[in-house]
Amino acid sequence: MPEIASKTFYLETFGCQMNAHDSEKVVGTLMAQGYRQVPTEEEAGLVLYNTCSIRDKAEQKVFHRLADFRKLAAQGKKFGVLGCVAQQEGEKIFERAPHVSLVAGSASYRNLPQMLVQLEAGNQRVTGLDDRQTDETFETEFTQRTNPCRAYITIIEGCDKFCAYCVVPYTRGKERSRKSDSVLAEARRIADGGYTEIQLLGQNVSSYRDPTGKRSFAELLSAVGEVPGIRRVRFTTSHPRDFTRDIVAALDAVPTLCDHVHLPVQSGSSRVLKAMLREYTREQYLERIGWLKASRRQPSITTDVIVGFPGETETDFEETLSLLDQVGFDGVFSFKYSPRPNTPALSLPDSIPDQEKARRLAVLMEHQRGIQVKNYRRHVGQTLQVMVEGRREARQQWIGRCSQNKTVNFTGAGTDLKPGEYRNVYVTQSFPNSLAGEMVV
Ligand code: 5AD
Ligand code: SF4
Repeated sequence: MPEIASKTFYLETFGCQMNAHDSEKVVGTLMAQGYRQVPTEEEAGLVLYNTCSIRDKAEQKVFHRLADFRKLAAQGKKFGVLGCVAQQEGEKIFERAPHVSLVAGSASYRNLPQMLVQLEAGNQRVTGLDDRQTDETFETEFTQRTNPCRAYITIIEGCDKFCAYCVVPYTRGKERSRKSDSVLAEARRIADGGYTEIQLLGQNVSSYRDPTGKRSFAELLSAVGEVPGIRRVRFTTSHPRDFTRDIVAALDAVPTLCDHVHLPVQSGSSRVLKAMLREYTREQYLERIGWLKASRRQPSITTDVIVGFPGETETDFEETLSLLDQVGFDGVFSFKYSPRPNTPALSLPDSIPDQEKARRLAVLMEHQRGIQVKNYRRHVGQTLQVMVEGRREARQQWIGRCSQNKTVNFTGAGTDLKPGEYRNVYVTQSFPNSLAGEMVV
């Protein structure tokens, strides 16, 4: 009789798309071991949290969740912490939340079947933790894809950039690229399975180095775009340092590559960029933006920004605002700096009070809103190809996404569309974060 009641599990995912896709692989792996996924903690024998530690707030979420459900442990349920908090905190989690019996970082997921056997045998402290030197990647044929429209493929894991604020190099380990032939084989399987959209994933896809030396990142991107049946290819995230011109040329040459590049800048001040160890200047970032703007495609550009990094002055912050104007981003994910364990920036005083970080964040968001109002307005009167993602019944509207990754809500299509179908939409209205229109027949 296994220790884990009825081999059922509940899995909740926090954080980025890498985590979302890791969870798809974890679910597939557990199912191949005879486990069944259930929708609530109460129904599960094994409760798993796939965690994020990019900012302190994200990390705290899992500890709150563990506290909320602690009483379920008395009923014999097992608890496991996976992902970045697991790798970062390691066995300390057993002290902080004694009802946890599994702690596993992402580089150890290949060993999940053995870890499950140990849990079933009643082992109270099962760990899967790796040092930064691991060569393990998590390639599995058991991926249980949950997104009906978009199939994720990991092409590179880990990060060797060591930006001063960032915990990722410690939680996800060193950079390991997957063989390009293996990526292409998965892309073909995905297309055969009926998907038309693929998103290539990695902490730094532009650092991709084919272990067989066959293809550069741009060549892999093009080759995925040429897989029969694939209509849209996205990739995230790129680092400005290794964002090369051949990526822009690939976008121009291969029509299935989407009109969108996410290129995190973090700050508009070269002085702050230097302190962040980003290894590019404002001017070098703008040079890359120049390539994109001069290209035939002129893709939509989005970015990430951190406000309140140690030592960021009002003038530095204003330089970030002016960079937003200069680039005219279609979207900015902005964050207050959060000190993280092990990172080089931890030795700098976290000098900007939280209130001031919050003020800068609010100013930046308001500023960017104005830019997006103008950018989104340009689409009014255009006809865009949209992939259907779902429906907003209350408004009798379909929800879709265009190649530029903008949400396009539309009417005029009756009620019988399915996620993953494509329709042309004439845009009649714009908002700061979405477009609305009518289907064109
Ligand atoms: N504090 C705030 N934001 C951070 N990010 C990464 N580390 C931190 C941190 N310590 C942001 C960066 C990155 C995004 C995924 O999260 O902007 O691009
Ligand atoms: Fe973190 Fe920098 Fe690596 Fe991105 S490139 S994951 S911000 S260390």
